[in-house]
Amino acid sequence: MAPLSRRALITTGLCASGFVPLLSQMVSGGPSSPISLSLAPGPARYPLTGAAVTEAMMSYAADAPPPVLRLRQGQPARISVLNNLSEITTVHWHGVRVPFAQDGVPWLTQVPIGPGETYVYDFTPPDAGTYWYHPHCNTLEQIARGLAGVLIVDEAEDQAFDADIAVLVRDFRLGKDGQFIAFASPRNMARGGTFGTVSTADWAVDPVISAPAGGLVRLRLVVTDVTRVYDLSLQGAEAMLVALDGQPLVNPEALSEGLLIAPGQRADLVVRMPDLADETVSLVMRLRGKEERVLARLVASGPSLSRRLADLRPLPPNPTALPDLAQAEALDFVFGWSPEGNAPESGGFCGDVPYRFWSINRQVFGGDAPPDPARPGTPLAELRLGKSYRFRLRNETQNDHPIHLHGFAMHLIGPDGKLTGQARDTILLRSHDVTEVAVLADNPGDWVFHCHVIEHQKTGLAGIIRVS
Ligand code: C2O
Ligand code: CU
Ligand code: CU
Repeated sequence: MAPLSRRALITTGLCASGFVPLLSQMVSGGPSSPISLSLAPGPARYPLTGAAVTEAMMSYAADAPPPVLRLRQGQPARISVLNNLSEITTVHWHGVRVPFAQDGVPWLTQVPIGPGETYVYDFTPPDAGTYWYHPHCNTLEQIARGLAGVLIVDEAEDQAFDADIAVLVRDFRLGKDGQFIAFASPRNMARGGTFGTVSTADWAVDPVISAPAGGLVRLRLVVTDVTRVYDLSLQGAEAMLVALDGQPLVNPEALSEGLLIAPGQRADLVVRMPDLADETVSLVMRLRGKEERVLARLVASGPSLSRRLADLRPLPPNPTALPDLAQAEALDFVFGWSPEGNAPESGGFCGDVPYRFWSINRQVFGGDAPPDPARPGTPLAELRLGKSYRFRLRNETQNDHPIHLHGFAMHLIGPDGKLTGQARDTILLRSHDVTEVAVLADNPGDWVFHCHVIEHQKTGLAGIIRVS
């Protein structure tokens, strides 16, 4: 365990409130005693921009950004959620391979948490890495108002970085007065989705984050936006890409060009900070054309630690069992338009919207989840527990779809038909892309499979994959 003084100090103070207490909670527990954390989703107000305090936000902490939750690989966690909202909610642990009952999908895995109620999630994260948490109920509005936070699962063994910094990347849809404007429109739902107007890092515009000069800093980028595929790069330092979607790369890659990170995805970088104090490294997002915007800055502090990027070793692999491609059955998934563009019978339930534009295998999903637990919808596919499958994913539309599967790592298959050694929980399919992944059906449940552009998810681009 690195001493606390070597951990990142966030000079803006924006994240400090959640960071330090959670870290000390983690340090106090032994490996077998559960880590106990609590979250309280509720209304919030916060100065997102210089313009004004943004009202009518939602957060997992009082008038502050959602805390960075830290768990430890292989150590049981108990997370108690008190719902201070005036509507129902759930918490989903995006990317963490949890048992089905802990997955946080309303009516499918649990009865949603009513206002004033407390619900306790209990699971042991099998994999280390960078994940995130968010509601799976009225998501278009609850995430848009702020309910999305970073979840870190620390490796069983400390990886000895000089600092560990998570950056929550997302847009908010605000008017000039700093207040929310309409989150979506049917026109955008049927196309690429509705984009935010203000891009933020840790709920701030261009925050400055302090990091040790000459140090090797683990920078965890977590894209939680409801729509935007971020094109990110670093200026002012060399960096290596060491993990995607929490899963370590067998061979870390030097970061040269921009990194496309879609809604739901994460990237772990190791940044070699400049040697001189006050030198800065910029996290830059590229917009259409050549326009660039600085999302956040790392500023070097203290005497140089003189670390070498060449000394970096890959992160330890996660204990995900590999699918057996020789025995794998192939399944096709086609992401397309809705066959009829029809409206559903039931409106207004758990943030349901009265439009359908999208489908998977020509099947249109009802919304977050059907309200009747006895009818969880016809699964897109039924998988046998313990068997391996090859998913052929085909995007036949003109828009991007980051396709996310709950409960599993999807192992990428290369052009040579072999496993590449990389796994994801969210796969970005750009317009007309075809991608193959392999899945070992080792976790029983009715798992949600959906596009993470929330307007697409809400208007049909979702389904269930049954493993039994
Ligand atoms: Cu980020 Cu269905 O999840
Ligand atoms: Cu998920
Ligand atoms: Cu989509």
